[in-house]
Amino acid sequence: MRTVFWENNELKMIDQRILPARFEVRSYRGHQEVARAITAMVVRGAPAIGAAAAFGLALAANESKSSAPDDLLNDLRASAETLKAARPTAVNLAWAVDRLMQAACSVKGSADDVRKVVLDEAQKLADEDVQINQRMAEHGAALIEDGDTIIHHCNTGALATVDWGTALGVIRTAHEQGKKIHVLVDETRPRLQGARLTAWELEQYGIPYEIISDNMSGYFLKAGMAQKVFFGADRVAANGDVANKIGSYMLALAAHDNNVPVYSVVPTSTVDLSLAHGGLIPIEERDPDEVLGIQFHGEPIAPKNARARNPAFDVTPNRLLSGIVTENGVVYPPFDVNLKKVVR
Ligand code: MRU
Repeated sequence: MRTVFWENNELKMIDQRILPARFEVRSYRGHQEVARAITAMVVRGAPAIGAAAAFGLALAANESKSSAPDDLLNDLRASAETLKAARPTAVNLAWAVDRLMQAACSVKGSADDVRKVVLDEAQKLADEDVQINQRMAEHGAALIEDGDTIIHHCNTGALATVDWGTALGVIRTAHEQGKKIHVLVDETRPRLQGARLTAWELEQYGIPYEIISDNMSGYFLKAGMAQKVFFGADRVAANGDVANKIGSYMLALAAHDNNVPVYSVVPTSTVDLSLAHGGLIPIEERDPDEVLGIQFHGEPIAPKNARARNPAFDVTPNRLLSGIVTENGVVYPPFDVNLKKVVR
């Protein structure tokens, strides 16, 4: 099953807030609801939110009552802004919406022709996402050796994409190739995408894993108990700096200090050549309640008046990365020269 799909004129999405306790699929009929679902992280992961926004724009086209194509395009422009504002860091969101707007604007026909093109393009984008992930997975799996223990951060699997996954897709393909691998799953505070979602996916695929808290990875790396680090990215700058889930930077630092290779796995739609370096990537700061709101032995984890910070992403500088795996091959340093060659 896909994470994000179109059925009976509705967008359907697996609700990732409640996994692994419950598996529920929600239906969406309006683009504003979709934007809210992206912000609330019903759907998350850069490629998945791109696909959700694409179908969100198809819903917006159906919601608009305009019968003249130009009026419909104006309605779509407003909806596109609402969708793009839902989360700031993952560039796939803006990339998907811009791709659909371009397709819509190129139509020479009626408003209904525009509606059809928008939906067809959203479906094409979603289908392509799966194929692209599988191509990345083939390139990335070649980097994994039989017997490797891999540290993985956040969730980059089928749930973070339309299907298959980026970094976790690589691990899944290596496993299907018969390589014996073990995954150390960073729990990924504060929203626990690792413990909740990656562990849930690894169980479906029958891949052996253990959950570790984020601050344990340095221990395993220093002890020689992990041979590779794999994570995804929400945006890659032109020089190969990578914005990914908070904690990726610390993980990459510890890996680099112990000569363990670090790979970021990304579709080229995640590469933003308009930004020269990672310092220019907007970092989402989320509600501090995500940090403070969990419990320990049924009790709050901090004093009642405690305050917290909650940046959702950090930037791993290119010098800490061994390679960036894309659907067009693995990119090696110098990233500022070589990334451009794979982004078409
Ligand atoms: O806040 P999230 O859960 O949307 O963050 C997701 C990540 O950081 C992933 O690593 C990233 O989107 C790439 S995985 C396809």
